[in-house]
Amino acid sequence: MSKPEEEKKAPKFKKESAKRALKIFKYVRPYLWHFTIGMAFLVLSSLLFVGLMGLPGEMANIALGKPKFNIGISVWDFGWIFLVILILQGIFSYLRTYLFAVVSEKGMADLRKELYQKIITQPITFFEERRVGELTSRITTDVEQLQSVFSVTLGEFIRQIVVLFAGIIIIIIWTPKLSMIMLMTFPAIVISAMIFGRYIKRLSKQRQDELAHTNTIVEETFQSFAIVKAFANEWYEAIRYGKSIDKIVAVSLSFAKMRGIFFTFIITILFGGIFFILWQGALMLERHEMEAGDLFSFIMYTGILGGAIASLGTLSTQILTAIGATERILEILDNPSELPIQKENFSKDSLILEGNITYENVSFSYPTRKDLQILDAINLKIQAGQKVALVGQSGAGKSTITQLLMKFYNPDSGMITIDGHDINSYDLSQYRHNLAIVPQEVILFGGTIRENISYGKPDATDEEIIEAAHLSNSWEFISVFPEGLDTIVGDRGIKLSGGQRQRIAIARALLKNPRILILDEATSSLDAESERLVQEALDKLMLNRTSIIIAHRLATIKDVDWIYVLENGKICEAGKHHDLIEKENGVYASLAKLQFETA
Ligand SMILES: Nc1ncnc2c1ncn2[C@@H]1O[C@H](COP(=O)(O)OP(=O)(O)O)[C@@H](O)[C@H]1O
Ligand SMILES: [Mg+2]
Repeated sequence: MSKPEEEKKAPKFKKESAKRALKIFKYVRPYLWHFTIGMAFLVLSSLLFVGLMGLPGEMANIALGKPKFNIGISVWDFGWIFLVILILQGIFSYLRTYLFAVVSEKGMADLRKELYQKIITQPITFFEERRVGELTSRITTDVEQLQSVFSVTLGEFIRQIVVLFAGIIIIIIWTPKLSMIMLMTFPAIVISAMIFGRYIKRLSKQRQDELAHTNTIVEETFQSFAIVKAFANEWYEAIRYGKSIDKIVAVSLSFAKMRGIFFTFIITILFGGIFFILWQGALMLERHEMEAGDLFSFIMYTGILGGAIASLGTLSTQILTAIGATERILEILDNPSELPIQKENFSKDSLILEGNITYENVSFSYPTRKDLQILDAINLKIQAGQKVALVGQSGAGKSTITQLLMKFYNPDSGMITIDGHDINSYDLSQYRHNLAIVPQEVILFGGTIRENISYGKPDATDEEIIEAAHLSNSWEFISVFPEGLDTIVGDRGIKLSGGQRQRIAIARALLKNPRILILDEATSSLDAESERLVQEALDKLMLNRTSIIIAHRLATIKDVDWIYVLENGKICEAGKHHDLIEKENGVYASLAKLQFETA
């Protein structure tokens, strides 16, 4: 149900998309030799296979004393001929399987790496416009499809094409008259079977859809059974489910009828055709127009030709599906990255900002909701080393201001400068190394505490990590765990409390040692005791840095250098705590009054 529409539809061949999909061969190019030699072995082994199929018939002819081709071999000779061909065939098959595996494994690994790098270097907006599941399936399912095309499907497809053409040529030369009869009847049978088959597939899809619908009912009601029960709507759901199931039965039965007709049709027409041709062949035998061995060969070839045609159908569907996957992958690869992937020897310290921040008439609306203006001509001035607070009601635009500073988005108008330069003039990656954020909800990576802390500085030593843990008040709980820094956190490990995760995030920020620090309601969701520990750690973190503090509880920002009060995307007041609180009917004063009254 959650599958995108594009994957449900039967693939259709479009010339432009096939042409575009050929670009994927870029990833095969480094292994072109493997690919070409593999192809050569493939064609050779296919030709050997086709040739092999003709031998038993000719052997029979020779045994009966009526060889078709007078090249003087005896039935005895067939022993070693079979042996040689089988050995060669085995060697060729092995080599081409291995060579194609090299191409598909290595080529697709390259593709995966590039795709992954491409995705993680996309701007935030890219992720907002897509679902995570969708991106994940690009890099897993779609690449897997391509991989199986390069390792098996493409080779098999070409093999069957070779078999088809070589087979047809051989039977035309060998038994021209009978072949003509077959070539005149068979394509008609195959085409009508294909049309019929497509119709049946449509019915089967209808049944699938209906089935998916009932599954949705089941999932929905099981998931929200509390609601179902609260409304005493069991009977209603039971009827809804029952109706849906009955519908499936109806669709399935008409599907079954069509399938029945299809099988009858296939058996009558197909076998009718086969027996007609065999009958013609027998008549020709009787008239001595050909030998028994020839009829035998003809039957062998007809068999492998039929097999080739049948598998070409499935193989081409698989290839078309892979073309669709390729297009979706290329669509992502065509997006420009917001920054290049860092090279190993990249120096993080090459840009060190002082931290004088200004916002000049910055207006902004989110790309996904262009009609809604979030920030309206914001002007801010923050001097290096200052602590500045942003306050205002939820939804006022406080976090948005910091997101612009992180360069997750660009302002629609106005300019943000740091140390007198437009922030767009800095190298994005170096620029971001100067900033750190401690958000309200800290999400840790599934891994060890050590990995999570050193995320801010991957080459940090143990001493540095432990020091950061001490300063952030994390060491007191980390040292209690038997595994210490190597304790696994996240899904498969220990669950840390909100305050503990916050302190890990602070340790991480301490290691990163940023010039500019953003605290976005870092203590808002904590209980009093955790808040004290986190606040203590934050105070140490803020030392000697420019800090922007978004706080819900005004008590925590009493001592900052300057406060900006936001209302509906505009700055409505600014000043020091004791001035703002004195202001008659001021927004800040009324916010404060509200908090101290409820406290
Ligand atoms: N990624 C986003 N896309 C679209 N709208 C957003 C996004 N993030 C926040 N908003 C909207 O922008 C407004 C301001 O949000 P935010 O800056 O988070 O407010 P605050 O931090 O002051 O509570 C809200 O109306 C919110 O719904
Ligand atoms: Mg916010």
